[in-house]
Amino acid sequence: MIPVKMQDLINAQINAEMYSSYLYLSMSAWCSDKNWNGFAHWLRLQAQEELAHAMKFYDYLNERGGTITLAAIAGPKADWKDLPAIFKEVYAHEQKVTGMINALMAEAIKQKDYASEIMLQWFVTEQVEEEANASEIVDTLEKIGPTAGGLYHLDRQLGQR
Ligand SMILES: [Fe+2]
Ligand SMILES: [Fe+2]
Repeated sequence: MIPVKMQDLINAQINAEMYSSYLYLSMSAWCSDKNWNGFAHWLRLQAQEELAHAMKFYDYLNERGGTITLAAIAGPKADWKDLPAIFKEVYAHEQKVTGMINALMAEAIKQKDYASEIMLQWFVTEQVEEEANASEIVDTLEKIGPTAGGLYHLDRQLGQR
């Protein structure tokens, strides 16, 4: 049996991953609306990845004989100032999620819950990649500035994902 505290934290993490998915899908919708279809594509795939993260925790909790409790998913905002505002928020959100994953890992270590430690290692590595990807897009947007040609080029590039 999984420790109750771990079970509760994983249930909260399922909700956080679902919310991440919802947030990125809302950002994707904003981009689609503005015809930034490459940015929209990248964010939509990101939303799908977050859903897969939620299901990874879900399956793990099931396997460990834990009780899955699905809480309400908060509604994300629907409007942003511009593309840099969106990707700065993606980066900040990923940093927040990294903090949650680290807290889960700290609890697993504290409880000597070795199975959870091993499962969480995948997420620790994943968060390094997630932060790097978001930070790279923020940096590129900063370099480009408001030039239409640069934004168009990045839109095409992210559409290749
Ligand atoms: Fe995630
Ligand atoms: Fe993520």
